[in-house]
Amino acid sequence: LIASAMMLAPASVMAADLTIGFSQIGSESGWRAAETTVTKQEAEKRGIDLKFADAQQKQENQIKALRSFIAQGVDAILLAPVVATGWDEVLEEAKEAEIPVMLLDRTVDAPEDLYMTAVTSDLVHEGKVAGDWLQDEMAGADCSIVELQGTTGSSPAIDRKKGFEEGISDASNLKIIRSQTGDFTRSQGKVVMESFLKAEGGANICALYAHNDDMAVGAIQAIKEAGLKPGEDIKIVSIDSVPDIHLAMASGEANATIELTPNMAGPALDALEAYLADGTVPPKWIQTESKLYTLKDDNQAIYELKKDLGY
Ligand code: AHR
Repeated sequence: LIASAMMLAPASVMAADLTIGFSQIGSESGWRAAETTVTKQEAEKRGIDLKFADAQQKQENQIKALRSFIAQGVDAILLAPVVATGWDEVLEEAKEAEIPVMLLDRTVDAPEDLYMTAVTSDLVHEGKVAGDWLQDEMAGADCSIVELQGTTGSSPAIDRKKGFEEGISDASNLKIIRSQTGDFTRSQGKVVMESFLKAEGGANICALYAHNDDMAVGAIQAIKEAGLKPGEDIKIVSIDSVPDIHLAMASGEANATIELTPNMAGPALDALEAYLADGTVPPKWIQTESKLYTLKDDNQAIYELKKDLGY
């Protein structure tokens, strides 16, 4: 019933009249902090009253926040879901209340009619780009890879792993020898890399694939403390393109990153405004770009450009 109601053109609403709830995961990474900043800026620019809730990495806090937004009767909800499963019930409640939910940067395992659209990158493709890059870089030489996974159960951790494995699947010279979560944080990236180095010995590790730049930056510290040269002794490829990874790349301490825009809210709010203006139903997936940066790029200049953007 509500799905069909959603198809009807609603009365035109000015963005300035809107109250929107934003349930953010937390602040585990530089990328996440930038997404929060950009989302607040996008709302302010449009005169939207944004109700912000930081879930501190806990799904239960996100569910509570969503229920509170529903009780307050917000016009729409932005949700960056910490994990992929366990959303059906609360999304049903939002649907019952006729409140459109827009997913930001991560996907959920829930029926598509429970949310209006998802603004995300192609998370599998990002992993594949990383795997393809490493395959080219190694040019047939044997390489033992360690992998730092993102938050267990999150869509980027699942999809970036899958994509990378696809990327290296036809390269018998490349082998993942250890893979563990570093929870998308710098501190855990360092701790887990230390354990990889201890278990394998630095000389046996040829490359690190990290599901985000923050974990790579933590790992770089661990590699240096082990007396090795990150970027040379151990090649490093990761995802996000935050300023600090470009700084590391500028000094040759990391090798490649795949950009994820922190501006997921812009396309989501554009879609919501179009829907409210004339009933235009957005596609279920609004895909953002994934660009590969390597040492061929001017990483110092990219760092300078990005460092003041809220990361
Ligand atoms: O969902 C996007 C991922 O979440 C980013 O790559 C990572 O940095 C963040 O914490």
